[in-house]
Amino acid sequence: MPSCWCSVLFDIHFQLLVTPVPLNDVAFQRCISPKCGETFSVEQVLTSCPKCGDLLDVRYEWDRIELPEKLSDFQQMWSRRNEPRRFSGVWRFHELLPFAKPDAIVTVGEGQTLLQKADQVGEYVGMQPGQLFLQYEGMNPSGSFKDNGMTAAFTHAKATGAKQAACASTGNTSASLAMYCSVTRAMRAIIFIGSGRISYGKLSQALDYGALTVQITGDFDDAMVRVRETCEELGIYLVNSVNPFRLEGQKTIMFRVLEALNWEIPDWIVVPGGNLGNSSAFGKAFMELKEIGYIDRVPRLAIINAAGADTLHELHERRNVRWLDGEGSMAAADAYSIEMDEENRKASTIASAIEINRPVNLRKCLRALEFCDGVVRHVNDQEILDAKAKVGAGGMGCEPASAASVAGAKLLRDQGVISSSDRVVCILTGHLLKDPTTTVAYHTTDQAKFNEVLGKRGVRRASFANRAVAVPNDLSEIINAIQFCG
Ligand code: F0G
Repeated sequence: MPSCWCSVLFDIHFQLLVTPVPLNDVAFQRCISPKCGETFSVEQVLTSCPKCGDLLDVRYEWDRIELPEKLSDFQQMWSRRNEPRRFSGVWRFHELLPFAKPDAIVTVGEGQTLLQKADQVGEYVGMQPGQLFLQYEGMNPSGSFKDNGMTAAFTHAKATGAKQAACASTGNTSASLAMYCSVTRAMRAIIFIGSGRISYGKLSQALDYGALTVQITGDFDDAMVRVRETCEELGIYLVNSVNPFRLEGQKTIMFRVLEALNWEIPDWIVVPGGNLGNSSAFGKAFMELKEIGYIDRVPRLAIINAAGADTLHELHERRNVRWLDGEGSMAAADAYSIEMDEENRKASTIASAIEINRPVNLRKCLRALEFCDGVVRHVNDQEILDAKAKVGAGGMGCEPASAASVAGAKLLRDQGVISSSDRVVCILTGHLLKDPTTTVAYHTTDQAKFNEVLGKRGVRRASFANRAVAVPNDLSEIINAIQFCG
């Protein structure tokens, strides 16, 4: 029995105070606006600059970090894959996102993904053999690229003592958050989804993993507003890509692409654009690799919107909104936002993952486009689904939003922006099984089903459908069908 309860309480309190925060003082947060540039410690939980409201970056004092001499030295981390930190395709590059101490890292073995040469898809796009590559991020544990970012945000959330984490989602962020919560038991997952706006593969993940699932009457853009308000009000940790730590993890997709290309820089990275977290993270990855001196040139970035959710395309290609070292005017973007409000315009595409009209990372994405001499294109649902069928036929498949990258590469090739001898990497962001309803509707022989799921989206034909053959339960009919079909 202690002599004095006060001293016990004091000891506990003291221990809490002196327990070292498992974050690194070589890292800090900084407002992306050059006019503001305010800095904050990595221990603060922020999703916008408290001074001016702009987005935040995680930044590093590179000269205080022990970095491998060359980028290719990261290959040696493979030999240490019995350590969870080096097994992860994200944390294998820890020195390039060193905001947390090694012991603080939360990993479920994310980032074991593949870059595949895809000549069959390349032929469809119009590339010379050997020039088109697909980066399969659907191979992540929750089936999408989100795990790259979630391991980083989750690490930060846990280090800062969060007990609840939330996101708005078109499905993949929520599946990823729910998975990290259920595997680690470190936090409760609260997810906000637009009612009827999420594919079954993704919804089933969140439900199975046990997340508190809040369905809002509205779409992703509505859910995003509400989750921000709720997190603010209840002090819940927000893991959407406005969280700067999320994007740190997503940088590693680019590191793995370079690694798979033997550290050669491709000519193009083509990525679907939704909330614009990936494109922003990719731009930051190349900015930092150049700043460190690991690379001397960067690939061009092509961001592909769905035509029914093409705010970035409208702003960048038609209204000339530019970053201009952070000095570019956002007046046209603000005016467009008001127009969308006045017309009550809602995003609409079969690629539900990117059905977003108000991308939260717009300004970071404009910065990435400027740094990587980028272009933006939009593709319609017909083009997305045809490209998706080609990806499936030529490889391991992807969900509709991911195929926007291939459809976009084809468009840029048709326009002569990409040349057939360029080396092009399309990012396939999510797994084929995320949205079985769309895939089955594309291949179906049932016209009513096709019309119900796809016809209302303006999809008129399934040019590359692989239709099931219906046969009676009769051996000779079955044999006939096998011999004479296809
Ligand atoms: N592809 C897939 C499969 C996605 O799930 C998303 C975004 C994107 C592309 C767009 O990426 O936002 O970085 O531009 N999905 C989010 C979600 C919005 O809630 O799962 P981005």
